Amino acid sequence: MSDILELTGREEAPAAGNTRKVFVKTYGCQMNVYDSQRMADALGADGYVETASPEDADMILLNTCHIREKAAEKVYSELGRLRKLRDRRRSDGGEMLIGVAGCVAQAEGEEIIRRAPVVDFVIGPQTYHRLPQIAAEARQGNKVVETDYAMEDKFEKLPAHDEQRVRARGVTAFLTVQEGCDKFCTFCVVPYTRGAEVSRPVHQILSEARRLAGAGVREVTLLGQNVNAWHGEGADGREWGLGELLHELAKIDGIDRLRYTTSHPRDMDDALIAAHRDLDCLMPYLHLPVQAGSDRILKAMNRKHTADEYRRLVDRIRDARPDIALSGDFIVGFPGETDADFEDTMRLIADVGYAQAFSFKYSPRPGTPGADMDDQVPEDVKTGRLHRLQALLDEQQAGFMKGLEGRTISVLLEKPGRDPGQLVGRSPWLQPVVCDENVGKIGDIVQVRITRASANSLIADNSEVEIPA
Ligand code: SAH
Ligand code: SF4
Ligand code: F3S
Repeated sequence: MSDILELTGREEAPAAGNTRKVFVKTYGCQMNVYDSQRMADALGADGYVETASPEDADMILLNTCHIREKAAEKVYSELGRLRKLRDRRRSDGGEMLIGVAGCVAQAEGEEIIRRAPVVDFVIGPQTYHRLPQIAAEARQGNKVVETDYAMEDKFEKLPAHDEQRVRARGVTAFLTVQEGCDKFCTFCVVPYTRGAEVSRPVHQILSEARRLAGAGVREVTLLGQNVNAWHGEGADGREWGLGELLHELAKIDGIDRLRYTTSHPRDMDDALIAAHRDLDCLMPYLHLPVQAGSDRILKAMNRKHTADEYRRLVDRIRDARPDIALSGDFIVGFPGETDADFEDTMRLIADVGYAQAFSFKYSPRPGTPGADMDDQVPEDVKTGRLHRLQALLDEQQAGFMKGLEGRTISVLLEKPGRDPGQLVGRSPWLQPVVCDENVGKIGDIVQVRITRASANSLIADNSEVEIPA
């Protein structure tokens, strides 16, 4: 999981009769995006439709992120704004339930209601299948806090994807195959907010993927906090890892592109690396966070590998798939990080070469070992290091983008562009590509020539377009 996203709910046609409306706001990683969709599905079965405007919502659901202090604090400022909105709605005789879901919910539980009494219910990521009951209880005027690590399988109990909703979400989809983390990096809250590593069974994943394909999805991104730690009993009775699962998913008619995120370097096994060589539909892009390039800091972070082991791993992956684009996450200013340690990180970045990356100042998180370590790095030192690191990563990204100019590449067309006459799609390496609408229709995978690269997107012309049969 990487970049922090902030997405808001999408509008749906209101159903006839006395339907309730829910506005969902999602913070954090892709898994939260997926969970928000599944919560909307669960509420949909309970008579709610999604609305894009909080003003006329009967329920506001914040799906939150606890990864860094800033992310967690955002929730409280949002709740402050929502209080005014709810009061206004109440004075008009309306109702508005306010729920907090996600990783802040799991980490802070009833503390959220103490700090923000406007909140009616708090629901942790393992219990989303109980959302309709919790909402019903909250509607009775009871405050509810549900943060168990549920014993039952939430995915088994959540209603299946609604075909109409999947279609409305477009031709790409997330599919969670693994949740939780047993790695306990010393800076990270995720093992506490998402619980232990759990893999979804093969049959559940395959049937969800088939349903997505049946609803027009052409690209599926498998999600997990440590997605490559996924394992399960395969259709052949043998123990499978992610490599074998990808082979099976590749057979599904209609799914032409596969991706997965986020991977831990220690779980990149031979079968998964081989899948990058053997499966054309597995896109040549890999998010493989390393966090730091100094062995001393990697050890203090409990990453359980050295910088050179990571370098060798990258070499093996590139041997299998030479055109693969790598992306990473970096933390600067972990406790005890010296100038020399930081230079090791800069050297690792220079050696590996990233097409894209996310980098952060270390943020001490309550309850994690890092927060209690001596030698916390001063804020101004963190800021200086972050700037230098980002300058190098930006330069590498610009180089990667420039290298695509003049090339003909495949693009999955996803949605209309900002200007009339445009469609926007994705390259195999995940960049948005702005195309002329004549190249094809949404859902097509077309070949286009890249004429220009900007910092974050590509522009194609339609002179050499051929649409595959
Ligand atoms: N499971 C993923 C990461 C999840 S969090 C993995 O292992 O790669 C996404 C990123 O947030 C991490 O890779 C890390 O770079 C960053 N991050 C996590 N905790 C942080 C903290 N306390 N301060 C700053 N960045 C942090
Ligand atoms: Fe956090 Fe480390 Fe687990 Fe990733 S592997 S979720 S960084 S503890
Ligand atoms: Fe944030 Fe939780 Fe994802 S802490 S990054 S929303 S797993």
